[in-house]
Amino acid sequence: MAETIRVMISEEEIDAKIREMGAKISKDYEGKEIHLICILKGGVFFMCELAKRISIPLSMDFMSVSSYGNEKSSSGVVKIVKDLDEAIEGKEVIVVEDIIDSGRTLSYLMSMLQDRKPKSLALCTLLDKPDRRTHEVHVDYTGFAIPDEFAVGYGLDYAQKYRNLPYIGVVESQE
Ligand code: IMP
Ligand code: MG
Repeated sequence: MAETIRVMISEEEIDAKIREMGAKISKDYEGKEIHLICILKGGVFFMCELAKRISIPLSMDFMSVSSYGNEKSSSGVVKIVKDLDEAIEGKEVIVVEDIIDSGRTLSYLMSMLQDRKPKSLALCTLLDKPDRRTHEVHVDYTGFAIPDEFAVGYGLDYAQKYRNLPYIGVVESQE
């Protein structure tokens, strides 16, 4: 069965949205220095583009978590595969994620990071599927709220494929 990708959000729309988000963050944190935390691997494309659109000083760190489950949904068990290199105590931290689905991963992660005593802790996501939420998460910056469809591209994968698409698409199987 062949797979085709239907475009959900174009490269131009994403680019414009990220510029807007970068400008908003730069304004909200004016006079401060921020520390971006990328959740690997999905968040990496978004974080790189976002960082380029932020005009205030920033540093970056990376964390990798796995939520055991099948390819299209997470199980709720979150394991830290790669922890941060630097402490976040006293820092103005913004977590950068590709998508929030059930909210399980992020509700766990945000409370874990809060325990490390950052000066502030915010959450920024490119995509949000609010209809799928089972765990409450406070999201400070959202790029696009999308319907309950499995999205790929711009960092998001389906069985590790399609992360490199420069747009957000939906996988469609064809006979
Ligand atoms: P949550 O814990 O259910 O919010 O799941 C979050 C993680 O599941 C995301 O960081 C993605 O890695 C993955 N995920 C959820 N929805 C999608 C999707 O539509 N496409 C690709 N990955 C997804
Ligand atoms: Mg992710």
